[in-house]
Amino acid sequence: MPMRLYVNIDHVATVRQARRTDEPDPVAAAALCEAAGADGITAHLREDRRHIQDADVIRLAGEVRTVLNLELATSEEIVQLAERLRPFQATLVPERREEVTTEGGLDLGHNVPRLSEVIRRLTGAGIRVSLFIDPTPESVARARDLGVPAIELHTGRYAHAWPHADAALVELAAASALARRQGLAVHAGHGLTYRNVHPVARIAEIEELNIGHSIVSRAVMDGMVVAVREMREALRAARR
Ligand code: PXP
Repeated sequence: MPMRLYVNIDHVATVRQARRTDEPDPVAAAALCEAAGADGITAHLREDRRHIQDADVIRLAGEVRTVLNLELATSEEIVQLAERLRPFQATLVPERREEVTTEGGLDLGHNVPRLSEVIRRLTGAGIRVSLFIDPTPESVARARDLGVPAIELHTGRYAHAWPHADAALVELAAASALARRQGLAVHAGHGLTYRNVHPVARIAEIEELNIGHSIVSRAVMDGMVVAVREMREALRAARR
């Protein structure tokens, strides 16, 4: 089974928000990702709006030609926006304001009534719901009990341990197999890079990877030569 690649375009918006201007545009970046073969576009509307903004999500919902996977926590206004926009998929993630990025999977032993309510509402809106969880048997069992069709396994521990990641890889493979046996679709992501992705991509039960920072980083570096040449040319043209 081929692996789906969903590209997370949050950090295109991070660069834009550094200047609160209109470039680079994450929606235009999403179209380029799709043209290059991405199977889907992932965006995280955080409560603190540090990168993706509401207007971006509204435009993505209208303009993404593949599928949109919206990452969100259970905060009410964002849940309401998701219900209204009906992305193809919603991945529920934990959020702490002070974190640099999503540091762990959902705590499925905590605030379960709220989580259940959000799952019910998003599902009722026709959205496929996935839960971002740690790759442990307990988390997989709890996710199954919540009745979602899909989970996304947090690959952060694996990525941090890399290149000494054998134990974390075994944990990921075991959680993937267990989830598959329970009838859950298995996604994975966080911290995956061009260097560490290969062993994860070989886990047969994983059908979708969400990758952001490494791809955006590569795009910056690969685009640098063209970008500087164009500015050089603009200066030259001004003096002609
Ligand atoms: N999956 C989820 C649920 C995430 O929260 C993130 C980070 O926003 C990613 C995947 C992508 O992680 P990275 O940017 O490290 O590739």
